[in-house]
Amino acid sequence: MPGLVAGKVVLVTGAASGIGRASAEALAREGAKVVLSDVNAALGKEVAAAIRSQGGEVLFRAADVTDEAQVEALVAATVKDFGRLDAAHNNAGITGAVGAVQDLELEGWMRTIHTNLTSIFLCMKHELRVMQKARRGSIVNTSSGAGVLATPALAAYCASKHGVLGLTKTAALENARTGVRVNAILPGSIDTPMLQTFMKLSPETDKLIRGSQPGGRLGKAEEIAEAVVWLCSDRSSFVSGASLAVDAAAVCR
Ligand code: NAI
Repeated sequence: MPGLVAGKVVLVTGAASGIGRASAEALAREGAKVVLSDVNAALGKEVAAAIRSQGGEVLFRAADVTDEAQVEALVAATVKDFGRLDAAHNNAGITGAVGAVQDLELEGWMRTIHTNLTSIFLCMKHELRVMQKARRGSIVNTSSGAGVLATPALAAYCASKHGVLGLTKTAALENARTGVRVNAILPGSIDTPMLQTFMKLSPETDKLIRGSQPGGRLGKAEEIAEAVVWLCSDRSSFVSGASLAVDAAAVCR
């Protein structure tokens, strides 16, 4: 059986860790040629080597997704490396500034918005230019349950992830006749280095997150990756503009 994304060329950002890593692994396993990108070059290269050792066709390219010149070069390099760009998982992100709204510094707010939201704009801008010319493509943006729910102490993160949904829906509608689909995934609480660091902020935070899972457990990065593979594949050909929660009903509360 050919893989679900056999022969497709896919770019994954934030691919050195957590959800992005799992996404790159799953895409490669399902037959895609994957360009992994991350600002953490050492870890990114290690992940790429691990996937390659399993038979995956992957390359690593370092890029900071908050820098337009680096994003433009990354997209161009992907096309140069593998000849095309069929799909992209725009996933890099940070927890960012923590604190009540009245206590946040502008710098922390800007850093969070820039890393989680402006980066998605920059990635989509340059990916869409390539995909529209080819008249095909699938873009998956990582939002969050915080894209639809209030998240006390994480206002900047919450605003950035709400913004990702607005950007995703607008791009989806603008591209409804271009052959390019644009969707968002909303992971629940997923056991990754980002969440582990956040949970270590205090025993109360850990207890609150563990205790508020309708499914009784944290999600696995691999469970998000399955949804990403499907959205990148032609099996989701009529799905665009969707906000797909992968969270064991967490946003239904
Ligand atoms: P992670 O911290 O394990 O991985 C994030 C990766 O993004 C890291 O490798 C990091 O180096 C990279 N990155 C950060 N800033 C970057 C930049 N400016 N340029 C390029 N790469 C950059 O985090 P995780 O949990 O895998 O998160 C991935 C995405 O999923 C994020 O957008 C996050 O907001 C989102 N998410 C995570 C959830 C969770 O519970 N883990 C829940 C909902 C959404």
